[in-house]
Amino acid sequence: MLLWWIGFLAPLKLLLKLVLGLLCRLRSHPVKLWTGTLSRALNNKESYIVVTGCTDGIGLATLRKIVEHYPQNPVLLVGRNKDKLSKVTESLGTTYENLPSKSEDRKSGTRRIEVAVVDFATENWPAEMERTLKGKSVGLLLNAAGETDVINRRYDEVDESLIIRLIQVNLRSAMLMSRLCLPSMTVQKAGVIVNIGSMNLVAEEPFQAIYTATKGGIRAFSEALQSEVRSKNILVQNWEPGLVNTKMTLGRYKGLDRFSCSADEFAEYAFCMLQNGTHELLIPFGYQPVTFSPYPLHEVTCGLAKFVPTHFLNQYAIHTRDSHTVEFIHCQTSRPNHGPHS
Ligand SMILES: NC(=O)c1ccc[n+]([C@@H]2O[C@H](COP(=O)([O-])OP(=O)(O)OC[C@H]3O[C@@H](n4cnc5c(N)ncnc54)[C@H](OP(=O)(O)O)[C@@H]3O)[C@@H](O)[C@H]2O)c1
Repeated sequence: MLLWWIGFLAPLKLLLKLVLGLLCRLRSHPVKLWTGTLSRALNNKESYIVVTGCTDGIGLATLRKIVEHYPQNPVLLVGRNKDKLSKVTESLGTTYENLPSKSEDRKSGTRRIEVAVVDFATENWPAEMERTLKGKSVGLLLNAAGETDVINRRYDEVDESLIIRLIQVNLRSAMLMSRLCLPSMTVQKAGVIVNIGSMNLVAEEPFQAIYTATKGGIRAFSEALQSEVRSKNILVQNWEPGLVNTKMTLGRYKGLDRFSCSADEFAEYAFCMLQNGTHELLIPFGYQPVTFSPYPLHEVTCGLAKFVPTHFLNQYAIHTRDSHTVEFIHCQTSRPNHGPHS
């Protein structure tokens, strides 16, 4: 009987998630009226938008969407590459000036854009970051920095340094940035923290054990943190994208392109989920969608993949490992001035 109930409830939960996800993506739906955590968090025009991983891919595309909608709030860009950070700062200035001038700030171009040059794969950045954030109130923290293993290797082939690097960049950075930003969110009784996990958890992707472990860690961290800070009006989301075409995935998953989207498409939906909040009214009923994939096709494939025995998904990854690795290295080395870790 118990098994029957579990079997009955699992698809029901998936259906509920899909329906609510769909509702949340319709910009003018009523759920929007119930929420607005992001607007509350950025209501104070002094509240900062802090984005890591803002120099490329998902982080950059989402940053663009956010600044478009919140033209007055100051921005702190966190990245490891000074030149790329300068380019992003310039491009934000341009985007900003080209927007129809709705507010005085847009007209006069007075938005503050600050930059922090930080390599998360190093040890000592938190003290410097603490100094940078001192006295600032943070409304939104988007932790989008991330790396993966350059090639698909057996776990016993990887160096200890790679294990440490991926933990530092994918997990430690988000945990420490959240810790540094939370105090001001708590004082304001408003804030949003977004972490980025990965849909690869569904497939328990072989040859990516370290990456997968960091993403599992991010999911657990986000969900536990949300339970802790919900009463302080702080929203935590853990986006788990499927395949998004960025430099991280360039050439990595050949043949799966039909399930992919561009970073801009992803950001469009992700911002919508951020703006509309997650279904807060349902939280008292136990529905807490901290973790989800904002892009509808990813959410659907993720839902369906749960019904496919993991063994088959694993076999596909094992069979395609070598061809994907060759293709990946070829694509990465053909990128002008870019190694996979740059
Ligand atoms: N693309 C996908 O299909 C996919 C799927 C699931 C999850 N994700 C996750 O989404 C997040 C963004 O990935 P993406 O696809 O947008 O990758 P991406 O295009 O390679 O961008 C990664 C960003 O992180 C920054 N970064 C990397 N290492 C860093 C370090 N040591 N210190 C500071 N910043 C660092 C990069 O800076 P530089 O510009 O200097 O390189 C870049 O801004 C990652 O957490 C990734 O795991 C991506």
